[in-house]
Amino acid sequence: MREYPPPEAVRTLYSPATIAARISELAQELARDYEGKAPILVSVLKGSFVFAADLARALPLPVRVEFLGVRSYGSGTVSTGAVQITQDLTHPIEGQELLVVEDIVDTGLTLAYILSLLKARGAASVRVCALLDKPSRRRVEVPVDYVGFTVGDAFVVGYGLDCAEQYRNLPALCELVELPQGS
Ligand code: IMP
Repeated sequence: MREYPPPEAVRTLYSPATIAARISELAQELARDYEGKAPILVSVLKGSFVFAADLARALPLPVRVEFLGVRSYGSGTVSTGAVQITQDLTHPIEGQELLVVEDIVDTGLTLAYILSLLKARGAASVRVCALLDKPSRRRVEVPVDYVGFTVGDAFVVGYGLDCAEQYRNLPALCELVELPQGS
């Protein structure tokens, strides 16, 4: 049986233990900042589903969880710049405190679109918690209030992040060295 993931295809950047430790730090910071509040975690799909699940469980706060599905890339590794809502929130957010949970902020185009959408719907406050930040690739300025790890210009997969829908289930955050077969 072929090894999964193929060892030549990915290189580990952050192990599951390192990710867990960083999430615990983020959760403490968030618990301080949101003390006495009950924010809604807006998990941006698909990439943040693993991060949001771990972050939500690490937070000692009475949170609610919503999912916002967006598609910003085609099937490859280059942004198309166009953002499409694939799944909307299930409740009104007017007057609510929102914490947007993102997998990675790259060009910033997706996040800029999401922030303007949530503000237009009347959220009382919107902050952003991104597992990964790739500041060297930014095309629009966006506020990222909480960052797990800052990365260089690598394409990252695993822990929810994909390349052409592959590798989301890797427990570690890995740099993609070789495109997956069939992409
Ligand atoms: P942006 O609009 O360029 O900031 O891209 C945001 C979205 O593109 C992220 O939420 C990811 O879904 C995807 N993305 C950007 N960089 C990467 C990467 O390195 N690996 C996997 N997905 C990425």
